[in-house]
Amino acid sequence: MSLPEHITEIKEHLTEVGLPAKIDAAVILGSGLGSFGDHIEDPVVIPYGDIPSFPVSTVEGHSGSLIFGTIEGRTVLAFSGRFHHYEGHTFAKTVLPVQLSKAFEVDKLIISNAAGGINLRFKVGDLMIIDSIIKQFFMISEPADHNWRYDLEQSAARVKEIATGLGIDTQMGTYLFAKGPSYESKAEIRAFRYMGGDAVGMSTAPELAEAGKLGVKAAAISLITNAAAGVVNQKLDHDEVKEAADQKKEVFASLVKGLIRDF
Ligand code: HPA
Repeated sequence: MSLPEHITEIKEHLTEVGLPAKIDAAVILGSGLGSFGDHIEDPVVIPYGDIPSFPVSTVEGHSGSLIFGTIEGRTVLAFSGRFHHYEGHTFAKTVLPVQLSKAFEVDKLIISNAAGGINLRFKVGDLMIIDSIIKQFFMISEPADHNWRYDLEQSAARVKEIATGLGIDTQMGTYLFAKGPSYESKAEIRAFRYMGGDAVGMSTAPELAEAGKLGVKAAAISLITNAAAGVVNQKLDHDEVKEAADQKKEVFASLVKGLIRDF
């Protein structure tokens, strides 16, 4: 599977500034989860703006830099700040971290996000392992993908084992991709619940599809940062998302470390 030319150029630039040609694991950090970067040892921080052909992330709570270093002796590349379609990036651009992970031959990719809880059993602060995706409604042009859904179920089962082994409680469920940028209406959330969505968010689905297409082994986790619209009678705001992420950051970090080690 060939990668776009600019990915090769980005890799060349990054190896020139000192990154190795092969990296053990990559992590995409969701809204408010950027502090995971603090756990990376001997970090080399490269702002997205310093990398030729790299788009810049504009969302609050996404700092927009690449962090390379080690965790428990394994080399890790973290994307702190991602590219959302709602920011105006094409889907082809939103999957750049996955393509770059492929270029660096990672053995595993861990994708995280902040999501709204649709499932009435979910509480703010729950971690939901994604075992299925609903994305047809909003993906206008998506990378061609085939049987990646099956792989995702297998990967979710493995993530569950690892989490349980660490004594971390998790939910398991379906992530429904919404285009954004605005949060959903109450009626939309009701409809999404009927469709089988457990959590809703504006990322991850294109990235998982690309990982499936490129054969990159991937796991995906949502942090439920708020009840989706209409689940509780409260207005949604981005501060709530950041606050929930902040409270859960240590548990999230130990799960991601466990995945870097054992997934
Ligand atoms: N909806 C969509 N995306 C989100 C939400 C939500 O409620 N919370 C965090 N990301």
